[in-house]
Order: sequence, then C-alpha cells, then structure tokens
Amino acid sequence: MAAIISIENLTIRFGPRVLAVDDFSLDIEEGEFVSIVGPSGCGKTTVLNQLTGLLPPQQGRISILGKRPHEGNPDLAYMLARDCLLPWRTALSNASYGMEIRGVPQAEARARELLAQVGLKGFEHHYPKALSHGMRQRCALARTFGLDSPILLMDEPFGALDAQTKLSLEDLLMQLWQEHRRTVVFITHDLAEAVALSDRVVVMSARPGRMIADVAIPLERPRSVRALQKSPEFHEIYAHVWEQLERGIQLSGQPTETVE
Ligand SMILES: Nc1ncnc2c1ncn2[C@@H]1O[C@H](COP(=O)(O)OP(=O)(O)OP(=O)(O)O)[C@@H](O)[C@H]1O
Ligand SMILES: [Mg+2]
Repeated sequence: MAAIISIENLTIRFGPRVLAVDDFSLDIEEGEFVSIVGPSGCGKTTVLNQLTGLLPPQQGRISILGKRPHEGNPDLAYMLARDCLLPWRTALSNASYGMEIRGVPQAEARARELLAQVGLKGFEHHYPKALSHGMRQRCALARTFGLDSPILLMDEPFGALDAQTKLSLEDLLMQLWQEHRRTVVFITHDLAEAVALSDRVVVMSARPGRMIADVAIPLERPRSVRALQKSPEFHEIYAHVWEQLERGIQLSGQPTETVE
C-alpha cells in the first residue's frame, strides 16, 4: 500500500548553528496510528510543523497524499496541548467553527453529535471559561474529528492534563479513532501513552533528532487504555521502547531533559 505520509531524508536546520533534525525518514500508511517519542528538543514538533507547511521547505522530501506540504492543507487537522478554543464562542460553535470555515455541510448538527460523543452533552452552550481543562480538550477533540481531515497531527494533546483525565481522554481518542478511522501522527513524552495508543512507536535520538527505532505495537484492538495498564504484554513492550529511548539519549552528546 502507498504511504499516505512519506518523509524521506529530512534534515532541518535553524540558522547555520542548529541542526535540529538529521536525515529522518518515515512512511505512514493510511489509517495507521503512529507516535513519535524522543527527548525534549529532539525535533518532534519541528517534524510536525514541516508536514503542515508552516516552516519553509528544508533538505529532504515530504509527500502528503502525493502532494508537497502547503499551508492550510485541508487534509490535515492539528491538535495541541493548548486547546486553542475561541473564548467568545460556545463549546458548540467552537466545535463547529473549523467545519464552517471549510464549508462542511450541517456543521452544527455534526458538532452537536461529536460533543455528545466526547461526553459534553448539556454543555453545548457553555463558554470555554466555564469548562474544566479536560472538558476543553474534549471539545478540541470534537473540533478536530469534525474537520473530516484524513490525517490528524497531535502534538502532546494530553500533555497538560492530570493522570486520571488523561486516561479517559486517551480512551476517548481510541474510541473516536476506531470509529472514524483517521491516520494519526501523535507526539508525546509519555511512553505508556504512546504504546497504549499506537500501531507503531517511532523513537528519536536527542538533538539532532535521528530515527533510533520504529517499534511495532502488536497489542490487540480494540484497546482500552485503562485495561492495558494491567497487561504484562503491554509492560514488556513499554520496557522495550524505554530501552530504545535510553539508547537514543546516550547516542547524543547533547544535554537533554528527562522524559516520563
Ligand atoms: N523557530 C525556531 N528557531 C530556532 N530554533 C528552533 C525553532 N524551532 C525549534 N528550534 C530548535 O530546534 C530544536 C527542536 O525543537 P522542537 O520544538 O522540534 O523539539 P521537540 O522535540 O518538539 O521538544 P519538546 O519535547 O520539548 O516539545 C530545538 O533545539 C529548538 O531549540
Ligand atoms: Mg514539541
């Protein structure tokens, strides 16, 4: 099967002195859930930003559904740790906003349905300031899935949540992904999260970010992230990914911050 995202020999520099990403290649197939992990500053966000076309093209080749990255690509939806909800819009009109801009028919009805799916029924007319952080991320999930983009780019979307809320949002993401079947590129510092959610976990070295390992996660689907916490197979794979990450940290002479 042809890759929906193909990254070949990507090398990214910031100015003459900072080599952020070095010769990074990755193919992702349609419907795959791929996580990228690596020490802070290794270039994960930079790789994702290259896919969006927000950064000027660098050395290497990127193809997304056969096209070069370009700004405003409707094939991509982006979700961050910050919910980026518009404070003057209600949960419902935040969830439908992207769809309205892209001219998706029946945006409001669809947003209503998605809000119910993410557990926000009854909160449609609340403004972001009247929602908890977890609720705002639920709303952001509804907005992201509402966009109908075949590819979701998620940069630590649950990174700022407490452990319990994070687990429920991970399970929610699994349900939405299993139902709506998108291709997901997911960045996280949390290896347990990466293993629980993904088909593959890509491990990057400390800066300059290089591919250290591409680990297939053969855990059965559908998955419950909560139930996996008690699975010996899950813990075995987790330990293996940890070893790869430690190797990645040792391979670089650069100082790094710790990861969870
Ligand atoms: N706009 C920029 N200008 C200059 N340097 C940059 C820029 N963006 C990123 N960098 C540098 O590129 C490297 C990779 O940054 P990036 O944000 O991609 O790391 P990351 O892996 O996402 O880190 P974190 O896990 O902390 O989010 C860092 O050394 C950073 O200082
Ligand atoms: Mg980052």
